[in-house]
Amino acid sequence: MECFSPYIGINGRAWIQAGMDNTIRARITDPGMDPTERFNLGLSATLQGRPYEAVLLDVLEPLRRDRYLHGRINQLFLHAPTGELGLHSIEVGVDVASLCVEEKMEQRLVLEGFRGGALHDIGKLGVPAYMFMKQKLTPEERVVMRRHPSYSGTFIDIGYSTVAWDSAHGHHEGKTDSYPRVDNRRKYHNPVIHLDQRKMQQRVTRPENEPFVRMVRSAEVLHALKSSRSYKPAFNAGERVGAFTEIFRNDPEHMSHFTRLESIAAQCGTGN
Ligand SMILES: [Fe+2]
Ligand SMILES: [Fe+2]
Repeated sequence: MECFSPYIGINGRAWIQAGMDNTIRARITDPGMDPTERFNLGLSATLQGRPYEAVLLDVLEPLRRDRYLHGRINQLFLHAPTGELGLHSIEVGVDVASLCVEEKMEQRLVLEGFRGGALHDIGKLGVPAYMFMKQKLTPEERVVMRRHPSYSGTFIDIGYSTVAWDSAHGHHEGKTDSYPRVDNRRKYHNPVIHLDQRKMQQRVTRPENEPFVRMVRSAEVLHALKSSRSYKPAFNAGERVGAFTEIFRNDPEHMSHFTRLESIAAQCGTGN
């Protein structure tokens, strides 16, 4: 099986891909590139070597023709200086779609799962770009950052996909309090996002979309834990278990997503 780690973006333009055979491939993308091409590049890189690659390529083929999705993901690629938002979005989309395939959902729902995962952070387009480069946010900036789910409505049309809409608005609900952000390795995360109890009581997630939103929450936390960001290092496998368990209070469904996604990554040697 050919396994590659996902591309690492540099300034949103250069992409470096490390192969398990110790090869390094690099590609320079033009910021003016057709959004469809940018989307296809990221999607292909993320799918390579996954156990469900063939199935996913098949069910995701309609997404290659989805101009609305490409446009939104392209905006995410261009918004954060390192391109990390675009890659994070595609990877969460693929992970959610993988879980949907494992659960033997019909193709239409796998596609919706991808849309929910890929567009969950669309509200970050409303957060100033410079904030994604900072190691530590000021209290005022944290307030802006934690509002990103509520900015989603400005950037996504509910008529496009209610799964994507609900995922964008609800992907931080139900966690103990935060992003997996660290200042100190002994403390797994800082409280950056607090649960808004009032909002929890006025939940807008449609009951039929709840399973997707839960998958999105799991996939996006796991991806954030595995990535190095300007404000945190990448967590190793042991640290990920600890942090994930703490964030989701050991919820059995989220823990099951965690185990399955870690197993998929381990098969491609991208798990540590
Ligand atoms: Fe988010
Ligand atoms: Fe996210």
